[in-house]
Amino acid sequence: MVKILMVCLGNICRSPLAHGILESKLPSDQFYIDSAGTANYHVGDPPDGRSISIAKSRGIDISHQRGQQFKASFFDVYDYIYVMDEHNYEDVIRMARTEQDRLKVKLILEEDPSARLKHVPDPYYGDESGFEYVFNVLDQVCDKIAQKLQQ
Ligand code: 4NP
Repeated sequence: MVKILMVCLGNICRSPLAHGILESKLPSDQFYIDSAGTANYHVGDPPDGRSISIAKSRGIDISHQRGQQFKASFFDVYDYIYVMDEHNYEDVIRMARTEQDRLKVKLILEEDPSARLKHVPDPYYGDESGFEYVFNVLDQVCDKIAQKLQQ
C-alpha cells in the first residue's frame, strides 16, 4: 500500500479537499490517502462547510473526514507528504528527524509544472469563489500525482 498525506494549517479547507480529490483518482486497494493540519485548532472537526460543498458539487464526499494534527510519527507511516504552502513546509520540515523524513515532504504544486502558483492559497478568510479556485488547482495537480504514482 502506498500512503500519501496531505497537509495544510487547519486541516479543514485545503488538505481535506486534496485528500478527497486524490482518493477519487486512485484505486483504494493500492493507495491510502489521509490529511492533517500543522495546527491543532480543528482536531476532531469535519471539514469547513465550503470545502464540503464544492467537493459535493463535483461528486466527492469529504463530510466524513475529521481533523487531526500532524505529528513526527507520521513520517514513519507515509511515503509522500504533500504540503500546501511554504509555512506548512517549514512547520513539517522542522519536525523531520532524518534526511529520509525530509525527502518525503514536497510542496504539492511542484508536481504540476504548468501551475502558475507555487503555493495553494488559504481560502479560509475569503468567500466561496476561493474554495472553487482551490478545488480546481488541486484537481489539476492531483491528476498529475495520480498519473505519476501509477506509472
Ligand atoms: P486550511 O485553512 O489550512 O486550508 O485548513 C485554515 C483553516 C482554519 C484556520 C486557518 C486556515 N484557522 O485559523 O482556524
